[in-house]
Amino acid sequence: MKNKIPVADLNQRGRASIDFLGHMFHGTQKIREAASEYVVSEFGEGKDLPDDLDQRVKQVSEYASQLPATRVRRTVGEWHAQNHGLIAIDAFEELGEDFAKDLHQYDEGTSRLTHDDDYENPYYWQGVEFHRTSGGWDGHDYMGFIHGEIVHKKMVDVIYPGGIFKQRCEVAKLAPQDQYESILEMGTSTGHFTLGLALAYPDAKITGVDLSTRALEHALRVGNANNYSWDLYRRPAETTGFDDNSFDLVTSYILLHEMPVAAIKEIFAEAYRVTKPGGDMLMSDVVRYAEQNKLQVALADEDAIYGGEPYWRESASADLVALAQEVGFTNVRATNLGTGPYPHVVIGTKPS
Ligand SMILES: C[S@@+](CC[C@H](N)C(=O)[O-])C[C@H]1O[C@@H](n2cnc3c(N)ncnc32)[C@H](O)[C@@H]1O
Repeated sequence: MKNKIPVADLNQRGRASIDFLGHMFHGTQKIREAASEYVVSEFGEGKDLPDDLDQRVKQVSEYASQLPATRVRRTVGEWHAQNHGLIAIDAFEELGEDFAKDLHQYDEGTSRLTHDDDYENPYYWQGVEFHRTSGGWDGHDYMGFIHGEIVHKKMVDVIYPGGIFKQRCEVAKLAPQDQYESILEMGTSTGHFTLGLALAYPDAKITGVDLSTRALEHALRVGNANNYSWDLYRRPAETTGFDDNSFDLVTSYILLHEMPVAAIKEIFAEAYRVTKPGGDMLMSDVVRYAEQNKLQVALADEDAIYGGEPYWRESASADLVALAQEVGFTNVRATNLGTGPYPHVVIGTKPS
């Protein structure tokens, strides 16, 4: 399916800068591999490393710091993290005001966006630059386009080719029933997973909530450009304000690693409340620490610290199956796409 939102046909300078970021990643692949091989040859699966995660990360990090390959990897990674958002903003602004104005033709259409200013943003979201996004999810008037169309499609997809949209479509198809009438997506952001859901369940009425105004504005334009009738709300997933038993499927894609476990519990309880009896939940997120060996956990934890993911450790350590059972979902199980542990997908049903 071709998304009909205008393509970011970048000008020469912006395109070259974005390409450079992708090439930089691929060009330093061997150095990252070497850094990783040295660490694995020193620690194996990490069985002898401390159980305490802070101590473990410190020990691995101190050893890795002595390796020239690690120093290059960290310097390149840090430069990339600090600059990718700024470079994407520059590339967008280089397209000019007319391009930005063009996007507004999709403000009106079959989808709608409700700004609910009564809902306060949770403390863990406020002021955090998740993924080292410059200024946070609302850090630019067109951050939705910048993140969804430039960073995601022209950087992330180049670095991990062919994956990001396909993965979302495949995850959407893992929900237990063939069709759903009403779906609530939590953490809609710019609508990447929403599109996957719309393709998998063409007859479903899709409702989305997110905290980011800029991301939702872009999701609205994506919905309108593609003639979807999405109902989008700027509301927290913890308190969506919808009636009990409203949706056949409640779902999310990589929302949960951006919050503490207490918030995940509230979101699962809210998902249970608004799911119809006999309806399903499907929540997908990052790989659980329980699925990784001790060294992998230490490396993932260190990457999360540098990668602007303050809740990754807490969230990835949580047993999402147990949390879903605690709020009442039954037949809860964890799965993935069969191509590796990412994404970790938890599926359950609200008893009839
Ligand atoms: C990594 S993005 C999700 C991406 C999106 N689902 C996709 O498939 O690309 C996480 C999103 O969750 C939103 N978010 C974080 N905490 C939230 C909460 N408590 N309620 C609603 N949305 C939240 C953020 O604003 C952000 O847009």
